[in-house]
Amino acid sequence: MCGIVGYVGSRSVSECLLEGLHRLEYRGYDSAGIAVISDGEISVRKKAGRVMELARLVEEQPLFGNIGIGHTRWATHGETTDANSHPHLGGNGEVVIVHNGVIENHDSLRNQLIALGYVFHSQTDTEVAAHLMAHHLSEQLKLNSDEPCVDTCLRAVNLTLDRLKGTYGICVMFRDCPDTIIAARSGSPLVIGVGKNEYFLASDSSPLIGCTQDVVYLADNEVVVLNATGMKIAHRTTGRVQPSIQTLDQVSADIDLGNYPHYMLKEIFEQPTSVENAMRGRLDEGEATAVIGGLNLTAQQLRTFDRVVLTACGTSWHAGLVGEYLLEEFARLPTEVEYASELRYRNPPISDRTLVFSITQSGETADTLAAMRECQRKGHPTLSICNVVGSTIAREADGGIYLHAGPEIGVASTKAFTSQVTVLSLLALYLGRMRHLSYPAGKRIIKQLREMPEKIEEALKCHERVQEISEKYAHFNNFLYLGRLYNFPVALEGALKLKEISYIHAEGYPAAEMKHGPIALVDEQTPSVFIVPKGGIQPKVISNMEEVKARRGPVIALACEGDKEVERIADDVIIVPDVEEYLQPLVCAIPLQLLSYHIALLRGCNVDRPRNLAKSVTVE
Ligand code: AGP
Ligand code: GLU
Repeated sequence: MCGIVGYVGSRSVSECLLEGLHRLEYRGYDSAGIAVISDGEISVRKKAGRVMELARLVEEQPLFGNIGIGHTRWATHGETTDANSHPHLGGNGEVVIVHNGVIENHDSLRNQLIALGYVFHSQTDTEVAAHLMAHHLSEQLKLNSDEPCVDTCLRAVNLTLDRLKGTYGICVMFRDCPDTIIAARSGSPLVIGVGKNEYFLASDSSPLIGCTQDVVYLADNEVVVLNATGMKIAHRTTGRVQPSIQTLDQVSADIDLGNYPHYMLKEIFEQPTSVENAMRGRLDEGEATAVIGGLNLTAQQLRTFDRVVLTACGTSWHAGLVGEYLLEEFARLPTEVEYASELRYRNPPISDRTLVFSITQSGETADTLAAMRECQRKGHPTLSICNVVGSTIAREADGGIYLHAGPEIGVASTKAFTSQVTVLSLLALYLGRMRHLSYPAGKRIIKQLREMPEKIEEALKCHERVQEISEKYAHFNNFLYLGRLYNFPVALEGALKLKEISYIHAEGYPAAEMKHGPIALVDEQTPSVFIVPKGGIQPKVISNMEEVKARRGPVIALACEGDKEVERIADDVIIVPDVEEYLQPLVCAIPLQLLSYHIALLRGCNVDRPRNLAKSVTVE
C-alpha cells in the first residue's frame, strides 16, 4: 500500500531511489529498501524504520548502478522487520520485486512453492510473488531457450500475475535481463515518468516532481516494460496500449515545507488559499449559481435525479456529512452518506434517479474505488470530488469536480476537508438553483462564500490561544467533541484529528446525543470540546454544556466573540468568526486542527507521520 519507486537511465540510481522514497514518506510506512542491478548481480539494502536509516545503510554499503527499484512498506502480512521489508528476492536471487497491496491467496501459493523446494525468508505475502516469478521464469527457460530475454521475463511476470488474487502495484527486475524493469498494477496505483533516455516509476507523482513533467498513469491490468530507451505498455487481456502522456502541473514548491516545521501546520495555514482555489471561476453572480464543468451531465439530466448518495472514508466521509446537510437544505435532495467500505459489500437500492459521488482527497482509497466501481457496475453514473489530478478515482469516475487544493502531504487531512466542504456547498448551490433555491438566496450564498477565505484567515488568528489551551489539556487521555447540525460532522472530524496524531481517545457526538450514553464518561478527567458558535440551535448546545459542567467536566468552547453566556460556562473559549450556520464547518474545523496539532506536539508525537496510519489506504 505504501510506496514504490523505480528508475532506469544514466543517473546514479541509489540517490535517485532514496530521494524518491523520501518524497513518498508522507504516505506513511514502517520500513524501506532498494534493489539495484550491477555487474550481473542484484543487490538489496533494506531496513525496518525510516528512509533516513536506509540511507545510512546505503552510505555504509553503497550500491552503484543505473537501474533499480525501491519501496516503503506499510506492513499488512508480517511484522515490521528487516527481513519483511521489500525488495524481496525470488528463487536464488534471479528475480527481485517490490509490491504494494495484498496477495490474498498467498497461503496456498506458499505451500505449493515450499513443496517445489523454494525457501522463504520472510512472513510477507509479497515473497510468494517473488518465488512464483522465479519459478515461472525457470519453466519458461526450459520451454523456450537458455537465455532469458525480455519476452521470457514478461511471460514469467504474466503467468505469475494470472495466479495472484488480491491487489498489487508491482515492480520486477530479473538478474539476467539487467536493463529492464517490468511493472504492473491491479488496484494499487503506478505512474511512469518519461524522461530523455530515462524512465521513472512511482506509486504517485510526488517523486517525479522536478525530474520530469511527462507522465503516464498505468491503468489496472496493464503491464509496462521499461528500459532506458523505451517503454511498452500492454493490457493483460486486450494487448498493446498506446501510452497517453500527460503533463504534471505540480512544482517543487508545492511539496516543500517552506518555513513551517510540519506539513500539517503548513497545510492548515494554506486554507484561505485552498478554499479560494476551490471556488476560483466557479461562482456566477449573474445567475446566482455555481459553475461546475466536468460533471458530464446536462442540466436536464441533473434535474431528473431525486436522490444523492455520497460515499467516502475518514475525513472525506465527514465532509460528506456536511454535504448531506447542504444538499438537503439548498437543493432539497434527499442525501445519504455511506462509508465506502460498507457500500462496496452492501446492495442498497440505488435507483436510476440517484446521483452517486465518491469523495476522496487521494483518489486512490481502495474502499472508495471499490464502492465507485460497484455502483458503476450496476449502471449508475458515479462522479468524484477529488484532489489528486490523474488519480485512479478521478480517471475512472464518469465526471467530477477537482478540489485544486494542491498536494496534501500531512497524513492528517486538513485542507482537503475544507476544500471538500467548499466544493460540496458549490454543488448544493448549483443543484439547488436548478430546483427550489431562489435567486436572492443564491446571491446571498455566493456573497458568503466569497467572504470565506477572509473568515478562515480570521479563524487562524486563534493559533496562539489554541497553543496556550493545548498546554493545559495535553495530559488528558479522553476527550469528547460535541456539536449540532452542521457542526456535528465538525465534532467527528475534531475527534478524528486528535486520535490520529496524538493517540488520545476522543469521540465526536451530536451534542444532544451525549445524554443518551456518553455523558456517563464525563468527569474531571474528560474534557469536552463544544462547538457552539451563534445560530438557531445554540441555546440547546449551551444547555448541554451546562450538563457537562454540572458533572465537573472541563469544557473548551468554540464560540463567537463576546458570547457572554458561553464565556460564563466554559473553562476556556476559542473565538471563531461569525458566519452563516451552513458555512460554520469551514471556520470551526480550523481551531480543532490546531488543537490536535499542538496537543500531539506536546506529547512528542510525529504529527506528519503518525504511527500505524497511511496517507492513502490502498488496501482493504
Ligand atoms: C484523515 O485525516 C485520514 N488520515 C483518513 O481518514 C482519510 O481521510 C481517509 O483515509 C480517506 O482518504 P481519501 O480522502 O484520500 O480517500
Ligand atoms: N502486503 C505487503 C507486505 O505486507 C505489501 C504492503 C505494502 O503495500 O506496503 O509486505
